[in-house]
Amino acid sequence: MKRIYFIIISLMVSLIFCACGSSKPEQNTETETATVQEKSNDHLYDGRTVVGISMPDRILERWNRDGAFLKEQFENSGCEVILKYSDNLIDKQITGLEEMIEKGADLLVVAAVDGSALSGTLETAHENGVKVIAYDRLLMDTDAVDYYVSFDNYKVGYLQASYIVSSLGLKTSEQPKYIEFVTGDPVDNNARFFYNGAMDTLKPYVDSGKLVVASGQTGFYETSTAQWSSDIAQQRIQIILNSYYPDGARLDAVLCANDSTALGVKRALETDYTGKNNVVLTGQDADIANIYNILDHTQSMTVFKALDQEAVVTEVLAKSVLSGTTPGEDLIKEADWDFTCTYNTTDYNNGVKVVPSYLLRPVAVTYDNLEKELFDTGYYARNSSGLIYSVKSDTPDQSVDDD
Ligand code: BGC
Repeated sequence: MKRIYFIIISLMVSLIFCACGSSKPEQNTETETATVQEKSNDHLYDGRTVVGISMPDRILERWNRDGAFLKEQFENSGCEVILKYSDNLIDKQITGLEEMIEKGADLLVVAAVDGSALSGTLETAHENGVKVIAYDRLLMDTDAVDYYVSFDNYKVGYLQASYIVSSLGLKTSEQPKYIEFVTGDPVDNNARFFYNGAMDTLKPYVDSGKLVVASGQTGFYETSTAQWSSDIAQQRIQIILNSYYPDGARLDAVLCANDSTALGVKRALETDYTGKNNVVLTGQDADIANIYNILDHTQSMTVFKALDQEAVVTEVLAKSVLSGTTPGEDLIKEADWDFTCTYNTTDYNNGVKVVPSYLLRPVAVTYDNLEKELFDTGYYARNSSGLIYSVKSDTPDQSVDDD
């Protein structure tokens, strides 16, 4: 009798283990089993699904929030989470990912420092049966990426450019208006999408002479900003202001691809712009410093991206992938979220394959709709001293696996 109980219990334990670690490779050769057992990992056999989250940096507000939201989502669904930041260093990101694989990760969620630099590491992940979701930024030049979760990145650029078209009155204006471009980090695939969305909208005005770029710098690389750095954006615009806009010459707008570049451009305008007008500045992310600038009218708009939604979609997708299914459009229908998410199988080609993508909707935020979009929705609030804070992820996550 005891023996029968033992067999039944053994069977149940193996079934539970299979269900929890469903994405683990079947170690059906002696070599594979040996390799896995040699690993000094704490997680592989503890029965919980392990999710490795690799973020680019902690300098930008947003990645702190992404990390916190993702960790919360995955922990709430019973997963063990390894969260690592990479200080914008490719090598640090690779080492971090290798450690996650080593520690028995079932799935990696990766926002790459450099989208093209991780192919080798991701291939190792896939060889070990580890699933890979590209988070916010597409993972390039590799087959070893299963899905992509992001926002409609082309639309971000479109929203920024459309704001410029309407605020400068380009459709009706007779006078030429002056603009400069500050785009993103060229190793981030998103930067090209933002640029294309903006340029497709503004180019007709540049071509017709309604918009003039005095520096002549309109190409993606010449307008790009390494590491999305505020300082680099500031220095470049200072040079442009001194060279092309001397003695009160008018500049009407600077298209900034995100909020960190907008901060740098704002500083450059404060020190080196001699014109008298308020220069239109765009941005992206709705970082707190930039919200203050919008309220002060020193930045004109930003594009808000609900990062908690991005984390929710990632977790639901991960769960589906780990259960062994191949999610598609159906994932959205079944989830029945109260926000818009579209399934895209055409636009995100990483050079090796078109990666199936789940895309969320970015929202343009200006002085006029800021209260409604950012405060009434509960993302931000003011404390008793009137200081703005993020409600949904107040402080950067403290429990990061950092070394
Ligand atoms: C993100 C932006 C962010 C930028 C700089 C992009 O990949 O989509 O939200 O501002 O990186 O970190």
